[in-house]
Amino acid sequence: MYCFNQKNVLTLFYILTLWTSLVTSNKLLEKHEQWMEEHGKFYKDAAEKEKRFQIFKQNLQFIESFNAAGDSGFNLSINQFADQTNDEYKANSLNGQKKQLTDVEMEATEKQVFRYENVTHVPASMDWRERGAVTPIKHQHHCGSCWAFATVAATEGINQITTGRLVSLSEQELVDCVKTNRTDGCNGGYAEDAYEFIVKKGGITSEAKYSYKRVDGKCNIKKSSYTVANIKGYENVPANNEKALLKAVANQPVAVYIASGKRAFQFYSSGILGEDCGIELDHVVTIVGYGTNDNGVKYWLVKNSWGTKWGEKGYVKFKRDIHAKEGVCGLAMFPTYPIA
Ligand SMILES: *[C@@H]1O[C@H](CO)[C@@H](O)[C@H](O)[C@H]1NC(C)=O
Ligand SMILES: *[C@@H]1O[C@H](CO)[C@@H](O)[C@H](O)[C@H]1NC(C)=O
Ligand SMILES: *[C@@H]1O[C@H](CO)[C@@H](O)[C@H](O)[C@H]1NC(C)=O
Repeated sequence: MYCFNQKNVLTLFYILTLWTSLVTSNKLLEKHEQWMEEHGKFYKDAAEKEKRFQIFKQNLQFIESFNAAGDSGFNLSINQFADQTNDEYKANSLNGQKKQLTDVEMEATEKQVFRYENVTHVPASMDWRERGAVTPIKHQHHCGSCWAFATVAATEGINQITTGRLVSLSEQELVDCVKTNRTDGCNGGYAEDAYEFIVKKGGITSEAKYSYKRVDGKCNIKKSSYTVANIKGYENVPANNEKALLKAVANQPVAVYIASGKRAFQFYSSGILGEDCGIELDHVVTIVGYGTNDNGVKYWLVKNSWGTKWGEKGYVKFKRDIHAKEGVCGLAMFPTYPIA
């Protein structure tokens, strides 16, 4: 009769462990390959591929352990950022220029006109998509043009609300033509500068006429001369006031600056994000609604510009009416909306 002795058991254990880790590592390699194919990724050589695979693996581990903890109210998943470190993600995808808000500026928003200040009745929930005021999710790609996408989404909203027509508007016009000392195409910019450009020029052209190129270009005066939507100006929602923000969003989509540098935002895939992600504002998105989920958790419905493979088919829900006055990720710090 054959019996395992201690040594045999150890050897068997060692072989099993090695085998398991080989299988796991093969599975991960396969997963990385699949992901590369899905996202059309190519690496210049084997060394780069190995480096990217290691980052992919670390991100996957982070995502899996985050989801396994399972009590945060939202899930993460791999997406187009899966082979980037958090620093690379921040450098590649975000505004670059941080929105700096002084106390003076914040106080100033309280003294400005806020046309919805006397609104007393707001619906329990709102989804501007259902009202036909939101175009499909767009994708800014490798260009820090979030400010143009958020401005456009807010402008598409008010244009549909006032004219009844939903027209997809041109981010590229803003990327190419809005030049200020703080707004510069793919290098980042401010929604306020974009509103001011549209007002001064007397309108904005359509996506169809001046389509998105993912890179900086020279301002095309001819294309820019076709205007299909106009605004009279823009206003700020009083800073750090989610109640005021609710009154505004009940009436139209609103552009908001947010802090999006955290890994939890990088890999957000579903649910209501209530994470403390700081107030380093580095991204601009558009609130297109609000509601309450089945568990009674209140949320903001937010349109991002990172394609449909990020988040909930391109959208993210943020927890609403939190204790911190800045709101989740600082979303209540500096909301703006165009006026028609
Ligand atoms: C809100 O009501 C107050 C008091 O009636 C009024 O002074 C103010 O102008 C109103 N604000 C707006 C934006 O209509
Ligand atoms: C940028 O321009 C604005 C308005 O033209 C001016 O008030 C501001 O001081 C300038 N900022 C910098 C950093 O030059
Ligand atoms: C997170 O994922 C788990 C497992 O797939 C699922 O049961 C849960 O509903 C998800 N939660 C959210 C908030 O999407």
